[in-house]
Order: sequence, then structure tokens, then C-alpha cells
Amino acid sequence: MIAYRNLRVALLGAGSVGAQVATLLTEHHDELASRVGAGLDLIGIAVRDVDAPRTAPIDPALFTTDAMGLIESADIVIELMGGIEPARSYILHALNSGADVVTGNKALLAAHGPELQAAAEQVGAQVYYEAAVAGAIPIIRPLRDSLAGDRVKRILGIVNGTTNFILDKMDVEGDTFENALAVATELGYAEADPTADIEGYDAAQKAAILARLAFHTDVPVEAVHREGITQITAAQVAQAQKAGYVVKLLAICERITDPSSGIDGVSARVYPALISRQHPLAAVHGGKNAVFVEAEAAGDLMFYGAGAGGIETASAVLGDVVSAARRHVAGGPGVAETTHANLTILPIDSVSTRYQITLEVSDAPGVLARIASLFSEHGVSVETVQQSIASVESGATRPDALATGTSESSGTATLVIVTHVASERALSRTVADIADQQVVVRVESVLRVEGA
Ligand code: NDP
Ligand code: HSE
Repeated sequence: MIAYRNLRVALLGAGSVGAQVATLLTEHHDELASRVGAGLDLIGIAVRDVDAPRTAPIDPALFTTDAMGLIESADIVIELMGGIEPARSYILHALNSGADVVTGNKALLAAHGPELQAAAEQVGAQVYYEAAVAGAIPIIRPLRDSLAGDRVKRILGIVNGTTNFILDKMDVEGDTFENALAVATELGYAEADPTADIEGYDAAQKAAILARLAFHTDVPVEAVHREGITQITAAQVAQAQKAGYVVKLLAICERITDPSSGIDGVSARVYPALISRQHPLAAVHGGKNAVFVEAEAAGDLMFYGAGAGGIETASAVLGDVVSAARRHVAGGPGVAETTHANLTILPIDSVSTRYQITLEVSDAPGVLARIASLFSEHGVSVETVQQSIASVESGATRPDALATGTSESSGTATLVIVTHVASERALSRTVADIADQQVVVRVESVLRVEGA
């Protein structure tokens, strides 16, 4: 192998992930040099506070607060600060100085991905971001490279560890949302302010990144339909379990056709959904992540592992650093990402899926028939109906296979209705009409059923 000059690596950030990256770069220096064909020299680490305690032993001489100065002398810049600014300006400065960039910053990529990609393309550099979605799990490279000759039809991802931990604890231990969130926070899964996790913002950022890659189309994060898990109750999780489902917060990226207009496009959405306990994603427990990819030729693929954690995420970062270094050694411009398909981003109304609707209704003759007729009027086909009748005296419930509408009863009953695939529009009109019926005490929940 031709000896090549050592490459200068600048690190921005030495927090949970950055500190581990610094350690691995130092400890694995010789092995990485053999793999790359050039040494990777860590020339400095930009932080806010050079005296702050670190989670890994790092040579104090490496720390600086002069990020811009550090960037200017680097071949590869690793951005692990997080947030939009100054990370965006630093990355643009790095690209314009001729450096390749490695980042795990999903918030920045979801908001400014096209701008960063354009800047990289203009100077023949490359932005690598394997760590930005699902931590240690290789999913960016498989979508960008391994599946480049195939057509992705749909991605179902559990891409937020905090929410998976909470929902799993509610499912396995019958815990409440509040308690499960408290444990997730105590264990360090959730952020100090867990809003981004539990309201689905973090998963929406990852969905925007995955959809862009899978469908060669810019997907602004604002176009990702987002619902969090704060409304999910222990009762819903228990009922899902009884019916053979599990509740998961899913990031879904899909090629769809709007049923009314016939427009072909992309749907990117995040919401809590029911999936069959037989589906591979149902076996993703605790804080783990998994991405299930359905491709035309490859069929179904699942990528599973740690979606967060300093050392785990550092593995994905180092993989990108090696790729960037190999490209420097080999020469030639970076590989530009294509958004040539430029598909329409379709709203949630264009989606078709299955639904589970839970209603509290008067337990009286004809109620089930009335509800069934409303589904039929809107063209929504019902797959199953289950009823539990609440006794007026005791408040206890007994499950019936199907509504019987006993004429003596004057209490209420719970109806759990699962539909065949229906359009979101038809379903929401059906539910609105149902809610207006006098015999309907309340619509307890509407959950989508995914993964069929
Ligand atoms: P941390 O908050 O733990 O660390 C951030 C680091 O950046 C700190 O060292 C901080 O310096 C430094 N920093 C912040 N702002 C500035 C600034 N303006 N100038 C210089 N340095 C600055 O973040 P993480 O390590 O958890 O995450 C880093 C990135 O990786 C984020 O984009 C995150 O989304 C992503 N990521 C994280 C995962 C994880 O499991 N943690 C998983 C996947 C992706 P100082 O220490 O002096 O305050
Ligand atoms: N807060 C995120 C999660 C960290 O819970 O998955 C990884 O992106």
C-alpha cells in the first residue's frame, strides 16, 4: 500500500458521544491506520468549557473553545455538539474549507439537510451521518448504498429508545405512562426535557431523514405527520395485549397513492400504532431500536440494535470517519445524494391503513346495527367487533364475542371495532358521525393498526 500522509481529524463536542469517539480514535489509532491506509490524528476537540469533567479520559491539551480555528486545519470534521446553531455554521465552514463532515445531528439534518448536501456537492466533499438515525444501527448506508438498485416501498421504524422503553414497560409490567417515563428518565434514556421523545419530534426528524434517502425526495420535517404517546393509557395497552397487538411509536415512510386524486407520492408519519405480536417489530423491547424495510426486490429486511448510548453511537461515527478517510486516500469527489424523484409529500389524509376504534355505547337493541351501518355508509369495511358489557349494578365487565344487545340492559357497553384497510379521510368521517350518535357515550380511542 502507498504510504499516505496522516489525516487531521477535528472533533466538535465531547459529551456522551464525542468523549467516546475521542477515546476510540486514540485507542484504535494503529488499527484504524491499517484499515484506512493513513493515520487518523485527532488534532483538537472544541467544547464550551475546557475544564468540564468528561465521561472518558481525554488528553486535556486537545480541548479548545476556538472551533473555527480548529476546523480550518482539519481534513475531517466530526460534529457532535447537537442543536442547529452554531453546528450548522461550523459544518458549512468545514465543507467550504475542503473538509468532509461526520455528524450525528438529526435535528440539524432534518431542518437543513438539503442545504448541507448542496454545500458539500458544490465543493466535492461529503456529509456522513450514520449516527443520526437509530444510533449504532447501520441504516443510512444500507438505504443509500446497499438498496440503491432496489425500490423501497415502506419503512416501519422504532427509532426512539425512550418511547419504546416506556411503551414496553407498560406492556410487559402493566406500568402507567407516568411511572414508566420516570424510570426512563432515571435510567438516562430520556432527555432532561423528554418532550422531543414523548411528543414524537425526535422520531419525526429521523423519519424525514429516512424518507429522503429511501425515496430520493426532500422531505421537510414540518411535512412529517406527528403524534406522540402521551395519550396512551395503561388500559389501551392492556386491551391491545388481549387482542394480540402491542402499541409502538412508529416512524413510517411509505410510497402511497392518494385514493381521491390518484397522485403518487410519499407519506412520512409518526404515531403510536398497534402491531401484531407476530410482527418482528413487536419483539423490540426496552430502549432498543429497529428499522423494518420493505423493498420490491429484497423483500423484508430488519435492522436492530442500540438506538442510543455514547459508546454505541460512537461506533457508527467511527464507521463514517473511516469511510471519509478512505475517500481522502483514494481521492475523487464525495458521493452526492440524489433527490431526483422529487415526489409529492402527501398529507395524513391520503394514507390508508387499518384502524381499531374503541367506543362506549348504550347497551340497547339496535346500537350495533346503527354503528355498523355508519361504517358501511362511509365505505369502511369492518373486520372484527368485540363487546364488553358493563353491568349497571356492579360496574364490572364481561366480554362477549359479538354484541348481543339484550333488551333488559340499560347500562353501557364497550365496543372494540377493527377495520380492514380504509382511507384516513373515510375513517375520520365515520368516527365524526359515530361521535354524534346519541347512543354513543364517547369515542374512547382510535388507533391505527400497522404492519400488515
Ligand atoms: P451532549 O450534550 O452530551 O454533548 C454536547 C457536546 O457539545 C458537549 O461536549 C458540549 O461542550 C459541546 N458543545 C455544545 N455546544 C457547543 C458550542 N456552541 N461550542 C462548542 N462546543 C459545544 O450531546 P451528545 O453527545 O448526547 O449528542 C451529540 C450529538 O449526537 C447530537 O446531535 C445528538 O442528537 C446525536 N446523537 C446522540 C445520541 C446519544 O445517545 N447521546 C444517539 C444518536 C445521536 P461542553 O461539554 O463544554 O458543554
Ligand atoms: N432521545 C433519543 C432516544 C436518543 O430516546 O432514542 C437517540 O437519538
